[in-house]
Amino acid sequence: QTGNLAPTPPMGWNTWNTFQTRIDEPLLKGMVDAYVSSGMRDAGYKYFVLDDGWMTMERDASGNLVADPKKFPNGMKALADYVHSKGLKFGIYNCAGWKTCAGYPGSRGHEYQDALLYASWGVDFLKYDWCNTDSLNAREAYITMSAALKATGRPIVFSLCEWGNHKPWQWAGGVGELYRTTGDITANFDKDKHMGTWSALSVMHILDQQVNIRQFNGPNHWNDPDMLEVGNGMSYSEDKAHFSMWCMLSAPLAAGNDLRKMSDQTKSILTNKEVIAIDQDELGIAAYKKALPDSIEVWVKPLKNNDVAVCFLNRSAKSQKLDIKWADLNLEDKTTGLNISFNTRQYAARDLWTKTATGTTKGSFKQEIPMHDVVMLRLTAK
Ligand code: GLA
Repeated sequence: QTGNLAPTPPMGWNTWNTFQTRIDEPLLKGMVDAYVSSGMRDAGYKYFVLDDGWMTMERDASGNLVADPKKFPNGMKALADYVHSKGLKFGIYNCAGWKTCAGYPGSRGHEYQDALLYASWGVDFLKYDWCNTDSLNAREAYITMSAALKATGRPIVFSLCEWGNHKPWQWAGGVGELYRTTGDITANFDKDKHMGTWSALSVMHILDQQVNIRQFNGPNHWNDPDMLEVGNGMSYSEDKAHFSMWCMLSAPLAAGNDLRKMSDQTKSILTNKEVIAIDQDELGIAAYKKALPDSIEVWVKPLKNNDVAVCFLNRSAKSQKLDIKWADLNLEDKTTGLNISFNTRQYAARDLWTKTATGTTKGSFKQEIPMHDVVMLRLTAK
């Protein structure tokens, strides 16, 4: 059974990247309010997702999960109702293993019971992690929870968080709507952070891991390169590059910053509707990567109505002068019949960050790109 719960990549906000398990009702209600007043909802973000840390350490006598009464004195349904009253959808977190990654009770052996509880609270989205799974078969564990969610009769988007080790892009379509493809992201542009046996991955590391799985991406089965770190400490250029590339990938967009304290720059990135439109293009085709000299990568993404998004990404630590012939960006994919040719077709180009027209695709394109930054264009067929 394949649903149609995510025809375009889900957009939302998640507690983890900024707050980890330090969450409670007053904080989250304030965040819901900021979600609306900041313009995030109007920009298309829809889900409000609680990550790990919302439960008590034990199930109750009937085996039900319990919302931590210190953090959520009014229970989870009250928070879900508040989220819904603002026109948003409510998401929650658990794990396929015996315990969640932060040590709270996991869903193993309680899948149907937990699914019914979530449905009774009005949950619309479940992120389902992969800690403490011992020798579980990943595909089967996720199919079990998927079936449990479907059995509730409530439409619940299922977000697999298996980190890519079991190649979910090969089997997660129809099981869930999105599936993590990598380990955890961190707010670093190109340097991973190592903590013992565990590494938090940089934005560029995760980007590189998407190149060879781009063909698996599509409506209702999205490759998930993890949540956004925009507004969490990288430079303006780096945040812009990160956001642009996630949109070029047609990735799920889960903001992870404190929405109550967003700078104008952060807000201008997360709510740039023309960039979001690239992410949400209904074809849902992840960009193809082409490498150019001098550390500039060029990514090309086919859009509906024969439009094309192009993103030039300067990964190097110095400013670079881009000078390329459009014809060098011709793109052919024999497996899908895709053929973009700048020799036979001309496009008008619009820069989606400066919001200005930048000529046509005749001859060549020249521009200076600062370090760790992008130039992102939408090309419209003439
Ligand atoms: C894992 C996931 C993260 C987050 C934490 C919560 O590391 O990959 O996204 O959900 O668990 O403990």
